Amino acid sequence: MKTYAIAAIPGDGIGTEVVSAGVEVLAAVARREASFAFKVDRFDWGGEYYKKHGRMMPENGRDLIRTHDAILFGSAGHPEIPDHITLWGLRLAICQPFDQYANVRPTRVLPGITSPLRSVDGPELDWVIVRENSEGEYAGVGGRVHQGSPLEAATDVAMFTRAGVERIMRFAFRLARSRPRKLLTVVTKSNAQRHAMVMWDEVASEVAREFKDVTWDKMLVDAMTMRMVMRPQSIDTVVATNLHADILSDLAAALAGSLGIAPTANLNPERTFPSMFEPIHGSAFDIMGKGIANPIGTFWSAVMLLEHLGDKSAADRLMKAIERVTADKRFHTPDLGGTARTADVTKAVIEAIDGANA
Ligand code: IPM
Ligand code: MG
Repeated sequence: MKTYAIAAIPGDGIGTEVVSAGVEVLAAVARREASFAFKVDRFDWGGEYYKKHGRMMPENGRDLIRTHDAILFGSAGHPEIPDHITLWGLRLAICQPFDQYANVRPTRVLPGITSPLRSVDGPELDWVIVRENSEGEYAGVGGRVHQGSPLEAATDVAMFTRAGVERIMRFAFRLARSRPRKLLTVVTKSNAQRHAMVMWDEVASEVAREFKDVTWDKMLVDAMTMRMVMRPQSIDTVVATNLHADILSDLAAALAGSLGIAPTANLNPERTFPSMFEPIHGSAFDIMGKGIANPIGTFWSAVMLLEHLGDKSAADRLMKAIERVTADKRFHTPDLGGTARTADVTKAVIEAIDGANA
């Protein structure tokens, strides 16, 4: 029997609550499938670790997780520590060196969940957003001089490489091809940003020639927000830059009913390093420790983890269990307008996994 090594990094805020729930659910899937097991190593890195050690993770942190099969991540963010420190010290400190360049964000209106869009009752909204995850606006290029003086100057340079754009375009076209509609929207801003975004567009048309069976179009990011709201049915797979997709994916999550549900995979498609799976909701300190965080975003991320490990049957079983539970309003947490607690949802999903038809 195969044993997968999982590195669990709960991080901060509700991250600890949802990752514990996610680990329980993964164990339940493994038990039910009986063809593999999980060995979970937990790493208590994040804001509290920073307060003790002056850094978000140990210097050799990446070495400790380099050979794991996958990483389950909670969130990074702490009210007493500036956001750019928590982000660059943990999440990006893993994503970038591990070359997890494809960030995949599926969005669907799950059974029992209500979209704020009147025209959407479920099937009209079924998207996957592919976010470039290694460069662009998050390249970390820039600087600050004359700090605090009236002459202070600061730059954040969005850096795009041909190799980086080619690989994300190829990934997105391939993903679009694997979905029934074979439809890709390339998001851009090449009207205003006349260098890198123009290269982005050019590379998209070049790569498109390798994928004659995929229908694709190009959309300016501002117009894309309108299209997502007004014509959600016209969208299937989307590829966008790091920052554009960051913004669009929050909108997508809200249109699908709640940020608490939305999952993410940070993929290293070549598998030279482990990939990382996380809910997109963040640390949510306002509800931390109350036991009311929605664990569904983490469970859906666990589905993506199972898919990445190649275990389709386990992934399908978990997704079905999740959908069974969201369909029942008794298991809706406060972000969905209900009163259920994290533990109630977790227990219900585990029961659905164990159930005969799940
Ligand atoms: C996301 C988040 C992060 C990001 C934050 C927490 C820095 O919003 O994963 O979308 O901007 O990448
Ligand atoms: Mg975001």
